[in-house]
Amino acid sequence: MRTNIRVRDLIYPYFVMRGHNKKERIKLFPGVFRFSIDRLISDIAGIRKLGIDKVLLFGVAEEKDDSGITAYTPNTIVAQAIRVIKKEFPDTTVISDVCLCSYTRYGHCGIIKRSPQSIVHSRLKKEKQFGFFIDQAKTLEVLSKIALCHAEAGADWVAPSACARGQVGAIRRAFDANGYKETKILGYSAKFASSFYGPFRNAASSAPGFGDRQSYQLSFADSEYAIKRIVSDVEEGADMVMVKPALGYLDIIKEASLRLKKPLAAYNVSGEYAMVKAYVQRIADSVERREAEKKIVLEILTGIKRAGADLIITYHAKDVARWLMVYSL
Ligand code: PBG
Repeated sequence: MRTNIRVRDLIYPYFVMRGHNKKERIKLFPGVFRFSIDRLISDIAGIRKLGIDKVLLFGVAEEKDDSGITAYTPNTIVAQAIRVIKKEFPDTTVISDVCLCSYTRYGHCGIIKRSPQSIVHSRLKKEKQFGFFIDQAKTLEVLSKIALCHAEAGADWVAPSACARGQVGAIRRAFDANGYKETKILGYSAKFASSFYGPFRNAASSAPGFGDRQSYQLSFADSEYAIKRIVSDVEEGADMVMVKPALGYLDIIKEASLRLKKPLAAYNVSGEYAMVKAYVQRIADSVERREAEKKIVLEILTGIKRAGADLIITYHAKDVARWLMVYSL
């Protein structure tokens, strides 16, 4: 059986910021920008012409605090963006990332229970090992509020990426209780504690202020637990699940796709993208460079799809859409 990448397989991620007429470059992330809503809309007009009809939105918060409140106050930057996109391009599928790392001062994906200083005296093993502790109940409450805020704005899908146990179930209950029967949930179910998220963290200014994410993201050495998390997200009511990153995790994608009846997304993350860019940028001849990039990217994405991904979130999407258009002429 042959695997061919199609433009409908692709989801393009966007970083949205406040302001007007802004399109900012991002360190170590060539070809990807932070957009103010007006510039975002013109960019989406461009990708729609290329045939891309699914976007994933990340907010770049200007104000951060300890409780992540700016992630769900009624007019958050993401809620505004969702409204405008759905008005201008109603048949675009809008997926919104639901997380706290760019909204909390300390840059973690959940609400921290105690300050790192107090942990020195803690007797709890996990706190000692990782240096801080996530308040799970509070985190689920806040994630549900963010998801509701995005659903209210018109998101087609919400994608909780905080790795909090029970996040899909909590959001599903919040949707049921508030009448959002149509809004779907994409669980970042198997999200590994990866070193491939670097450029993304520059884009969303979401690097942890202390410690790392190993206490809540999954260990890349443990495939069994990853599959368990995927199964439990489906049981909690996820409409689609995700494996992230993609390239080093094709075995997980394969296993999940064989076991699941739900569709599966794979996230070809920022570091995977930047690696390809770093290589091709060193090819001096521009024709040779474009050819090499096209071949490498299509090989990578075909591999991810061949392993079993139904949808691929990728920063290469615009380029791929252009190449596919040329092929089909
Ligand atoms: C937020 C989030 C991250 C990514 C997507 N959502 C960063 C992280 O977990 O640190 C990374 C995506 C990428 O690298 O492209 N939790």
